[in-house]
Amino acid sequence: MATIVAARVATGLSQVLKADDSVWSKAQPQTIALAPTPIGFQPSVYVVAAWRDRPYGLLADLDVRAVHTGNELAFRLEWAEPQPVTQPDDLDIFADGAALLFPMDGVDAPIESMGSPAKPVNAWYWRANLTAAIHATGQGAGSVLRLNDDAVSGVGRWASGRWIVVLARAFATPGGVQISAPGMVNASFAVWRGANQERAGIKAFGQTWHEIRLEG
Ligand code: HEM
Repeated sequence: MATIVAARVATGLSQVLKADDSVWSKAQPQTIALAPTPIGFQPSVYVVAAWRDRPYGLLADLDVRAVHTGNELAFRLEWAEPQPVTQPDDLDIFADGAALLFPMDGVDAPIESMGSPAKPVNAWYWRANLTAAIHATGQGAGSVLRLNDDAVSGVGRWASGRWIVVLARAFATPGGVQISAPGMVNASFAVWRGANQERAGIKAFGQTWHEIRLEG
């Protein structure tokens, strides 16, 4: 398990939300290995039948950086996508997406099932076709609930075959994981490939929790 160090930066959220801002050059990227979500945990019989023999979640790795402002924790995710999908213009077309997952207690929850009733999770979710990011909770695959609180900021930029997405949230937010600096919080990651019709439980994910260490 690689530790991702989030240094404190002396800038505000609006600057951190620029994928190309020099603030990100201070953050050391970590490459996170991704794998397809387990078909056995898909709650829908239709999804299991439709995807059992169909490849998905093949994005092998994701570059992750993190910084914090003293009030907000921000992640910059970068990955290769040769065929970006930003505007689904038919019912069977899905936009690219990326998300972070945290155990609600900051420490542990079953990752392969996206949480459980006893061990819920918190997700910060960016989608290429949406203007606002989504703050959500989960208690197991099939139980995602949106908080509709505008707590998560997210921006994405595609250029030269790569997506760069920044997701950020204030440390203390009702209903979500509580964060502090200095401190630690565990997180994992997921990426959906619209070009392969990936959505909901069909995606690439990090199979273990990664420790995020917020410096003081
Ligand atoms: C660890 C990384 C993961 C992250 C960041 C993540 C994040 C998310 C998010 C943001 C959604 C909402 C999608 C939407 O509204 O369209 C979602 C839905 C879903 N996820 Fe995950 N997930 C992860 C892992 C998993 C795993 C391992 C499974 C196991 C099969 C899973 C199963 C599902 C299912 C079935 C849905 C759709 C049903 C629902 O809305 O509850 N997820 N996930």
